[in-house]
Amino acid sequence: MTRINELLSHYPEDKKKSALLPVLHEVQDAHDNWLSIALMDKVAEILGILPIEVYEVATFYTMYNLKPIGKYMFEFCQTSCCCLRGTEDLMDYTCEKLGVGIGETTADGLFEVRGVECLGACGYAPMMQLGDFYKEHLTKEKIDQIIADCRDNKIILHDK
Ligand code: FES
Repeated sequence: MTRINELLSHYPEDKKKSALLPVLHEVQDAHDNWLSIALMDKVAEILGILPIEVYEVATFYTMYNLKPIGKYMFEFCQTSCCCLRGTEDLMDYTCEKLGVGIGETTADGLFEVRGVECLGACGYAPMMQLGDFYKEHLTKEKIDQIIADCRDNKIILHDK
Protein backbone atom coordinates (compact mmCIF):
# COMPACT_ATOMS: atom_id res chain seq x y z
CA MET A 1 0.00 0.00 0.00
CA THR A 2 2.93 2.35 0.62
CA ARG A 3 4.08 2.03 -2.97
CA ILE A 4 0.51 2.30 -4.30
CA ASN A 5 -0.13 5.44 -2.27
CA GLU A 6 3.11 6.90 -3.61
CA LEU A 7 1.93 6.16 -7.16
CA LEU A 8 -1.49 7.66 -6.51
CA SER A 9 0.11 10.87 -5.21
CA HIS A 10 1.11 11.61 -8.83
CA TYR A 11 -2.53 11.74 -9.97
CA PRO A 12 -5.39 14.13 -9.18
CA GLU A 13 -7.75 12.77 -6.51
CA ASP A 14 -10.59 12.43 -9.04
CA LYS A 15 -8.36 10.71 -11.66
CA LYS A 16 -7.14 7.71 -9.69
CA LYS A 17 -8.21 5.41 -12.53
CA SER A 18 -5.31 6.80 -14.55
CA ALA A 19 -2.96 4.93 -12.21
CA LEU A 20 -4.50 1.57 -13.05
CA LEU A 21 -1.61 0.21 -15.15
CA PRO A 22 1.22 0.98 -12.71
CA VAL A 23 -0.89 -0.12 -9.75
CA LEU A 24 -1.58 -3.46 -11.42
CA HIS A 25 2.16 -3.87 -12.01
CA GLU A 26 2.87 -3.19 -8.34
CA VAL A 27 0.22 -5.61 -7.16
CA GLN A 28 1.35 -8.30 -9.59
CA ASP A 29 5.00 -7.92 -8.59
CA ALA A 30 4.04 -8.25 -4.93
CA HIS A 31 1.93 -11.39 -5.47
CA ASP A 32 4.03 -14.01 -7.25
CA ASN A 33 3.63 -12.28 -10.61
CA TRP A 34 -0.07 -12.86 -11.16
CA LEU A 35 -3.41 -11.17 -10.50
CA SER A 36 -6.24 -13.09 -8.87
CA ILE A 37 -9.85 -11.92 -9.04
CA ALA A 38 -9.63 -10.95 -5.36
CA LEU A 39 -6.57 -8.78 -6.04
CA MET A 40 -8.21 -7.10 -9.03
CA ASP A 41 -11.31 -6.44 -6.94
CA LYS A 42 -9.11 -4.83 -4.28
CA VAL A 43 -7.46 -2.63 -6.93
CA ALA A 44 -10.93 -1.53 -8.08
CA GLU A 45 -11.81 -0.66 -4.49
CA ILE A 46 -8.60 1.33 -4.00
CA LEU A 47 -9.07 3.27 -7.23
CA GLY A 48 -12.80 3.76 -6.74
CA ILE A 49 -13.75 2.09 -10.01
CA LEU A 50 -15.80 -0.95 -11.00
CA PRO A 51 -14.13 -4.38 -10.94
CA ILE A 52 -15.01 -4.82 -14.63
CA GLU A 53 -12.86 -1.78 -15.41
CA VAL A 54 -9.90 -3.58 -13.89
CA TYR A 55 -10.69 -6.93 -15.55
CA GLU A 56 -10.97 -5.39 -19.01
CA VAL A 57 -7.49 -3.87 -18.71
CA ALA A 58 -5.86 -6.89 -17.04
CA THR A 59 -7.23 -9.25 -19.68
CA PHE A 60 -6.21 -7.01 -22.60
CA TYR A 61 -2.48 -6.66 -21.92
CA THR A 62 -0.22 -9.72 -22.03
CA MET A 63 2.04 -8.35 -19.29
CA TYR A 64 -0.62 -9.10 -16.71
CA ASN A 65 -0.91 -12.74 -15.70
CA LEU A 66 -4.28 -14.08 -14.70
CA LYS A 67 -2.99 -17.39 -13.37
CA PRO A 68 0.15 -18.55 -11.59
CA ILE A 69 3.08 -18.67 -14.00
CA GLY A 70 6.59 -20.04 -14.06
CA LYS A 71 9.18 -18.02 -12.17
CA TYR A 72 11.05 -17.42 -15.42
CA MET A 73 8.60 -16.37 -18.14
CA PHE A 74 10.26 -16.38 -21.56
CA GLU A 75 8.22 -13.94 -23.63
CA PHE A 76 9.35 -14.31 -27.22
CA CYS A 77 8.45 -11.58 -29.64
CA GLN A 78 6.54 -13.19 -32.52
CA THR A 79 6.15 -10.14 -34.73
CA SER A 80 7.66 -9.75 -38.20
CA CYS A 81 11.32 -8.83 -37.59
CA CYS A 82 11.74 -11.48 -34.91
CA CYS A 83 9.86 -14.07 -36.97
CA LEU A 84 12.09 -13.40 -39.96
CA ARG A 85 15.11 -13.88 -37.68
CA GLY A 86 13.96 -17.26 -36.36
CA THR A 87 11.78 -16.75 -33.30
CA GLU A 88 9.57 -19.73 -34.06
CA ASP A 89 12.54 -22.11 -34.27
CA LEU A 90 13.87 -20.71 -30.99
CA MET A 91 10.51 -21.11 -29.30
CA ASP A 92 10.26 -24.72 -30.51
CA TYR A 93 13.81 -25.34 -29.33
CA THR A 94 13.11 -23.80 -25.90
CA CYS A 95 9.86 -25.70 -25.44
CA GLU A 96 11.51 -28.97 -26.42
CA LYS A 97 14.45 -28.34 -24.09
CA LEU A 98 12.11 -27.52 -21.19
CA GLY A 99 9.58 -30.25 -22.02
CA VAL A 100 6.60 -27.90 -22.18
CA GLY A 101 4.25 -26.46 -24.77
CA ILE A 102 3.52 -22.77 -25.24
CA GLY A 103 1.71 -21.44 -22.15
CA GLU A 104 2.59 -24.44 -19.98
CA THR A 105 4.69 -24.28 -16.84
CA THR A 106 7.47 -26.76 -16.18
CA ALA A 107 6.76 -29.26 -13.41
CA ASP A 108 9.30 -27.54 -11.14
CA GLY A 109 7.42 -24.25 -11.56
CA LEU A 110 10.51 -22.52 -12.93
CA PHE A 111 9.83 -21.91 -16.62
CA GLU A 112 7.10 -20.87 -18.99
CA VAL A 113 7.24 -19.91 -22.67
CA ARG A 114 4.90 -17.39 -24.23
CA GLY A 115 4.63 -15.60 -27.58
CA VAL A 116 3.93 -11.85 -27.50
CA GLU A 117 3.59 -8.99 -29.95
CA CYS A 118 6.40 -6.60 -30.90
CA LEU A 119 8.37 -5.45 -27.88
CA GLY A 120 9.90 -2.48 -29.66
CA ALA A 121 13.39 -3.94 -29.95
CA CYS A 122 13.12 -4.99 -33.59
CA GLY A 123 16.74 -4.07 -34.34
CA TYR A 124 17.85 -6.71 -31.85
CA ALA A 125 15.77 -9.55 -33.27
CA PRO A 126 15.18 -12.26 -32.37
CA MET A 127 14.53 -11.24 -28.81
CA MET A 128 12.48 -11.99 -25.74
CA GLN A 129 11.57 -10.34 -22.47
CA LEU A 130 12.54 -12.04 -19.23
CA GLY A 131 11.28 -10.17 -16.20
CA ASP A 132 12.07 -6.48 -16.68
CA PHE A 133 14.90 -7.13 -19.13
CA TYR A 134 15.35 -7.91 -22.80
CA LYS A 135 17.46 -10.78 -24.10
CA GLU A 136 18.52 -9.89 -27.62
CA HIS A 137 20.10 -11.39 -30.75
CA LEU A 138 19.01 -14.78 -29.42
CA THR A 139 20.54 -18.03 -30.58
CA LYS A 140 20.10 -21.60 -29.35
CA GLU A 141 23.40 -21.25 -27.51
CA LYS A 142 22.17 -18.11 -25.76
CA ILE A 143 18.93 -19.87 -24.82
CA ASP A 144 20.98 -22.72 -23.31
CA GLN A 145 22.99 -20.21 -21.28
CA ILE A 146 19.91 -18.30 -20.11
CA ILE A 147 18.23 -21.50 -18.94
CA ALA A 148 21.41 -22.58 -17.13
CA ASP A 149 21.70 -19.15 -15.49
CA CYS A 150 18.06 -19.33 -14.37
CA ARG A 151 18.65 -22.75 -12.84
CA ASP A 152 21.75 -21.40 -11.09
CA ASN A 153 19.73 -18.44 -9.78
CA LYS A 154 21.98 -15.99 -11.65
CA ILE A 155 19.20 -14.16 -13.49
CA ILE A 156 17.89 -10.87 -12.08
CA LEU A 157 14.24 -10.43 -13.01
CA HIS A 158 13.41 -6.97 -11.76
CA ASP A 159 15.21 -3.66 -11.99
CA LYS A 160 13.94 -2.29 -8.67
S1 FES B 1 9.44 -7.46 -34.17
FE1 FES B 1 10.36 -8.31 -32.41
S2 FES B 1 10.79 -6.59 -31.15
FE2 FES B 1 9.73 -5.77 -32.86
